[in-house]
Amino acid sequence: MKTAVYPGSFDPITYGHIDIIDRASRLFDRVIVAVLNNPSKNPLFSTEERLDMIRKAVSELKNVEVDSFSGLLIDYVEKREANTILKGLRAVSDFEYEMQMALMNRKLNRNVETVFMMTSSRYSFLSSSLIKEVVKFGGCVKDLVPEHVLEKLVEKYR
Ligand code: PNS
Repeated sequence: MKTAVYPGSFDPITYGHIDIIDRASRLFDRVIVAVLNNPSKNPLFSTEERLDMIRKAVSELKNVEVDSFSGLLIDYVEKREANTILKGLRAVSDFEYEMQMALMNRKLNRNVETVFMMTSSRYSFLSSSLIKEVVKFGGCVKDLVPEHVLEKLVEKYR
């Protein structure tokens, strides 16, 4: 079984992430969306809130699971008996750090491959940080995150 782990902070999930998950679900037998449990990064949403928003967003995709992890990604990938780490690339600016992480992860376990998918051009400018900033100051992100995510964002900043 070809299982890909798609890791991230997802604080919160955007249509950029959902686009990658949707396309990956047609390439792999199973996709595990893995939320980094990272309280030290001071996320806006708790791990449970992020998991809940992702689960709602991908509920139609039957071969997609949503889970959280702490510690090293490669240890989690091994634990879930996956063979692939999936990452989205938005622009060249993402490449350098992603390359470092991919090479480090391969050093830690040479049996796990990192696979990159290009984010759709209509979402290539999108990041969770930008979404939070725009909502915080009252801007509109209507077509960039699902309705239920927008509601949670507005609630947080109210
Ligand atoms: O959405 P993000 O914040 O860009 O995701 C980054 C993430 C979670 C993929 C990365 O920080 C990660 O893999 N963290 C887990 C800790 C780890 O394994 N670090 C070594 C990476 S080589």
